[in-house]
Amino acid sequence: MTKVIPTTPIAGQKAGTSGLRRQTRDFMAPHFLENYVQSILNGIGGAEGKTFVLGGDGRYFNAEAIQTILRMAAANGAAKMIVGQNGLLSTPAASHLIRLNKTNGGFILSASHNPGGIDADFGLKFNMANGGPATEAVTAAIFEATQNISEYKVLEAADVDLSTLGETQMGDMQISIVDPVVDYAALMQTLFDFDAIRALFAGGFTMKFDAMHAVTGPYAKHILEDLLGAPAGTVMNGTPSVDFNGGHPDPNPIWAHELMAIMTDPDAPDFGAASDGDGDRNMIVGRGAYVTPSDSLALIAAQAHLAPGYAQGLSGVARSMPTSGAVDRVAEAKGIECHETPTGWKFFGTLLDASRVNLCGEESAGTGSDHVREKDGLWAVLMWLNIIAKRKMSVGDLMAEHWQTYGRNYYSRHDYEAVDSDVASKLMDDLRTKLPALKGQTFAGLTVEKADEFAYDDPVDGSHTSGQGLRIFFDGGARVVLRLSGTGTQGATIRVYLERLELDPAALGMDAEEALADVIKAADAIAEISARTGRAAPDVKT
Ligand code: G1P
Ligand code: ZN
Repeated sequence: MTKVIPTTPIAGQKAGTSGLRRQTRDFMAPHFLENYVQSILNGIGGAEGKTFVLGGDGRYFNAEAIQTILRMAAANGAAKMIVGQNGLLSTPAASHLIRLNKTNGGFILSASHNPGGIDADFGLKFNMANGGPATEAVTAAIFEATQNISEYKVLEAADVDLSTLGETQMGDMQISIVDPVVDYAALMQTLFDFDAIRALFAGGFTMKFDAMHAVTGPYAKHILEDLLGAPAGTVMNGTPSVDFNGGHPDPNPIWAHELMAIMTDPDAPDFGAASDGDGDRNMIVGRGAYVTPSDSLALIAAQAHLAPGYAQGLSGVARSMPTSGAVDRVAEAKGIECHETPTGWKFFGTLLDASRVNLCGEESAGTGSDHVREKDGLWAVLMWLNIIAKRKMSVGDLMAEHWQTYGRNYYSRHDYEAVDSDVASKLMDDLRTKLPALKGQTFAGLTVEKADEFAYDDPVDGSHTSGQGLRIFFDGGARVVLRLSGTGTQGATIRVYLERLELDPAALGMDAEEALADVIKAADAIAEISARTGRAAPDVKT
């Protein structure tokens, strides 16, 4: 029986950079999840007769939320739900299933790289029929629905057993419980030279993949160990846990320190990689050689043709604005399109759908292509393995060769986390006011050439997005960008992105923080970060 439950709008159900992300207890509060799910369905024009994909990263409350979404989808007339076994689907695998099955979209339960648990974070995002995050327009319609909601519908039905593969029913709605890994693994085999990578491992190449107790464990074990023949134990922390074993599943040198320790040991394996809570981020590290996501994107742009799925070359590339300009230099050399978009994967969708680009990346450990409409952690790892198998060079040597060819964009991101929201907004407001007067002024020996606030006009659908980060460009190709995070759940996170281009072949091997010392000083002098936040140093440098 369908129950119609009266409700009232809940404040703050506004999606951020990637769906709605809140503390888990907020999501568990009465009506919170239900209001948001009904608002999604209302915002997309209802569920009647539609098919959706449903799954998540397995964090605390994943299983319960899935049952609620099933009951609500059934009550709203959905025809079918395709659900990952045990409620698990990595974000890129969910994106693939949405496309493969030509569904109307999907619900992805994840707070990505944020910690999980009853006292940590939870999230829900809706992806559209192209497999990508809801566009700005649909996101706005969903938000509008959250502000007008007066009732939601839920079917009175028992929980569905999510552990058994196959077909089942809830009311009139069909439910297919699918293996989360097989279709995704099949897609990867169409893109990469699995024989070459298999031969690489057979020849003694060694690797560690850190799944960080999150969703990619089963994917990495199947693909790396079963299909590609990497020895058992190549995948570490490979069993998904509801709280990521108490960790912070963000693949960067700070949070993936266990892997970093292994990779800086004299006996380190040849290759290291990690992925985040929901499997869309990646970290690439060679023996003693960490690769920044911006450099990884540039190297992939230069060498992707070595992978069968990209043998015909790239149509174009896109990067989020704060990502370094390293990939632009490759695009220029290859004579292909290069786009600079606001932060967040949703802005790549129109370019990918229109085949304007088939490689995208963000400095925040996100890399991907047109095979799905999300960034894809394991895809990036397989791309690197494919390149290494063909080039027969180490990660460090590949990067050194890249910098000799294109120059090096020294890069670092400094995050100031859980800053008082008022302090952070005032810092940004005051800096915005000051931007026009900065031109020609010198800070820490760097002279400002231009300063502005980034806005984007989508070349495919013509939409305009403003307020996407404050940028200060200096003579000689250095740049500072400041923006506030749209994914945090406590206070504000100020992100400071620092970059400097180096073309001198003799100066390409410096430590990034040293190479950026003047840029860091100039950023602090202009934005008064330490004075206003009272912090002597950032919380995280990536
Ligand atoms: C962060 C990253 C951004 C990424 C998003 C979702 O968003 O900076 O590149 O798309 O997570 O993974 P932010 O917290 O900066 O808004
Ligand atoms: Zn993620």
